Amino acid sequence: MRFDVLTLFPEMFSGYLTQSLLKLAIERSIVSVDLHNIRDWAQDKHHSVDDRPYGGGPGMVIMPGPAVEAVEAVQKLDVTPGRVVMLTPQGRPLNQRLVEELATHPRLLLMCGRYEGFDQRVIDILEPEEVSIGDFIINGGEVAAMVVIDSVIRLVPGVLGDEDSGRYDSFSTGNRLLEFAQYTRPREYRGLQVPEVLLAGDHQKIAKWREESSLQRTRKQRPDLLNE
Ligand code: ADE
Repeated sequence: MRFDVLTLFPEMFSGYLTQSLLKLAIERSIVSVDLHNIRDWAQDKHHSVDDRPYGGGPGMVIMPGPAVEAVEAVQKLDVTPGRVVMLTPQGRPLNQRLVEELATHPRLLLMCGRYEGFDQRVIDILEPEEVSIGDFIINGGEVAAMVVIDSVIRLVPGVLGDEDSGRYDSFSTGNRLLEFAQYTRPREYRGLQVPEVLLAGDHQKIAKWREESSLQRTRKQRPDLLNE
């Protein structure tokens, strides 16, 4: 799976790309993440990428020229056309269903906005899938793009070990409940014991206990999931 990230702050990704699961997936060539600075497609001598909004108001708007031309140039870097995804609070709310949908594409181009977002003509011309990570405002699309990459790669074959396949993650088509409670050593901590059933090795009983734990958690924290 190939990701191309278009951003004004590529350095924000450097720690993220060199850790843990993603680092391994990149080393094994299962996933690639290429960073592109939108400023490289600036069209004036000052390398401007943003300007004040027509009609007035606070903040700056990313100009159409650098954004559209960056996407067109980056598309040409691979024969596989990428689905263009724009991270924006105006987008479709990200959930596991949308993650599953995005994971069907072999290539995604992730556009990270800053300031007051992109000029509307960028959206009109590129017709991106607009994606929001929730009803709150963060300082730009970069962290949101990392959320998309992190959730999508779990569904790319070979990224996770087989035994903990992301197909069964909470909120997936295959599992609408929250995860069950987990315990590790020690068996007792501050007077709290690990449930006996988890220590006894009866796998049927463990499975039943976990099912009940999932249901209980879901009822308490997310009753809305049970009514879907
Ligand atoms: N940029 C700013 N806020 C955002 C959000 N909630 N989702 C995606 N991109 C954003």
